[in-house]
Amino acid sequence: MALTSGLGVRKRIFWQLTVFALGFLVPLLYWFPIRNLDLLIPMDVCPSATMALLKDNFTGGLQLGNRPDVLTCTSWKAPIIWHGTFNPDVAQQKARQQNLTIGLTVFAIGRYLGKYLERFLESAERHFMVGQRVVYYVFTEQPDAVPHVALGPHRQLRVEFVAREQRWQDVSMARMHTLHQALGRRLGRETQFVLCMDVDQHFIGPFGPEVLAESVAQLHAWHYHWPRWLLPFERDARSAAALAPHEGDFYYHAAVFGGSVAALRRLTAHCALGLRQDRARGLEALWHDESHLNKFFWLHKPAKVLSPEFCWSPDIGRRAEIRHPRLLWAPKEYAEVRD
Ligand SMILES: *[C@@H]1O[C@H](CO)[C@@H](O)[C@H](O)[C@H]1NC(C)=O
Ligand SMILES: *[C@@H]1O[C@H](CO)[C@@H](O)[C@H](O)[C@H]1NC(C)=O
Repeated sequence: MALTSGLGVRKRIFWQLTVFALGFLVPLLYWFPIRNLDLLIPMDVCPSATMALLKDNFTGGLQLGNRPDVLTCTSWKAPIIWHGTFNPDVAQQKARQQNLTIGLTVFAIGRYLGKYLERFLESAERHFMVGQRVVYYVFTEQPDAVPHVALGPHRQLRVEFVAREQRWQDVSMARMHTLHQALGRRLGRETQFVLCMDVDQHFIGPFGPEVLAESVAQLHAWHYHWPRWLLPFERDARSAAALAPHEGDFYYHAAVFGGSVAALRRLTAHCALGLRQDRARGLEALWHDESHLNKFFWLHKPAKVLSPEFCWSPDIGRRAEIRHPRLLWAPKEYAEVRD
């Protein structure tokens, strides 16, 4: 008798504790969702000795000390550009003095064209390199379907025909080869710097010459707080994109990368070759061309890194350190666009 009632009491306490714990956890997770757990991992801070040295051809001196809340330089002394660390007017002036023409490439294949291209281009007209000479390159298999977007002075749009691949993975992988060829032709002759972007995003803030450098990589919005060993690099040693466990600096997002024409020729050649080698071995890297891009930037460090403010995902929600987003990803609707 005493035994069973003792058991009953313990059971009741167990259930009371469980209900209590759930009552505590559910509101906590609601208030601070799991996707924000990485905020508890602090970012490194740029050493002040490095900060004082950093400047580049577009931003003049960088005020990296203005953002003590985030990492503003890399271990190889490249700046990580955050809102507040540069003067956009100085960047404008320096780009004008160099009389630059800046390319912006985008692939609009299959249903991505109808769904995203118009908004991408219209928002680029409002925010991308305003006041500079710009050439858009739209790569598509449906040239006649490219929407007409009114362009400002000194801004042009060229449509380049590409053949349709069967699977979206192949579309994404053919991109490096196509870009490489285009950079060897008119795109490479008429521009000095080029940004390569995904189409399923749109600009909501100024994206000016402060992003330019010999080579430019974008921190991935979902991974910039993560420790290196957790980053989704390709780890299969048979792949050309493989990184060993102690390798990799940051996880970069293939939705934005760029640089000088010469640097991008090397980058696209490297990635296209890696993709070809993997295919010959019957492999496909975890994140396709993005895995190869990450391998390239591990071997050839980017001269400039863009903070996640430059390509932000609204799905992550608000964060104090993301002060002024520039590009926003569209919600991912893979089922609708990827086949
Ligand atoms: C600045 O430009 C010069 C020549 O145009 C180049 O050699 C140098 O690497 C550039 N510096 C940076 C930090 O990009
Ligand atoms: C600036 O670049 C444009 C286009 O490349 C060219 O037509 C023009 O002559 C250049 N201006 C100067 C002052 O070099």
